[in-house]
Amino acid sequence: MDGNGRWAAAKGLPRLEGHRRGAERLIETIDSCIDLGVNTLTVFAFSAENWKRPPEEVSGLFKLGEWILRAHLARLERRNVRLRVIGELAALPEFVRKPLEEVIESSRNNTAFNLVVALNYGARQEIVSAAKAIAADAATGKISADDVSWSVLESHLQTAGMPDPDLIIRTSGEFRLSNFLLLQSAYAEIVFASVFWPDFTKDQLQLALAEYSKRERRYGMTHEQVQTTQP
Ligand code: IPE
Ligand code: MG
Repeated sequence: MDGNGRWAAAKGLPRLEGHRRGAERLIETIDSCIDLGVNTLTVFAFSAENWKRPPEEVSGLFKLGEWILRAHLARLERRNVRLRVIGELAALPEFVRKPLEEVIESSRNNTAFNLVVALNYGARQEIVSAAKAIAADAATGKISADDVSWSVLESHLQTAGMPDPDLIIRTSGEFRLSNFLLLQSAYAEIVFASVFWPDFTKDQLQLALAEYSKRERRYGMTHEQVQTTQP
């Protein structure tokens, strides 16, 4: 969800106003995804590197996160949304960590839609944690080095049990992944939208989905092979 700050600057507004509009856009996007038949949406809300921002912006983002969760909780519940978080939740301030943990727990059995919020998330940090856990299991003999496989590694990622992303959308005209789901995105289709996140409407989402549907996903195979294996 990139471009909140530039959206605000272009309108002569404070950056936090851009974040506020961005948060509202997220709520609308969840509705749009449900309406369009998407079952999992992962949003990069706060990266492990975002702590480098001015402290007022960091605390403003957390206050906004807490407020938006509280304001839309009933709606999320009504739409049967399950909330999950990837990233180091423990390092977040208690006033946002606690309500998040409560909703993660209370929405555990919701099945209509999976909302995954990446908070204090970094893919490299996630990979390091997985490597440490596997090394610890190897040290105690729970696993042998030869048995380390992609499925073992994957099961130690914070996304364990979640599908890999089919489509990654980056807004605001930037062309990079910025430490987001680096391993899980191995075969993701990537769409770059030029609009800032607060302008990413349902129409924009539909354009991205249309672009995605034109892509041929070959997973290393040839075009001809893919044609014959598809129904
Ligand atoms: C939102 O946009 C992303 C968050 C970290 C919340 P930005 O804050 O990165 O906006 P720009 O890139 O400065 O425009
Ligand atoms: Mg940015």
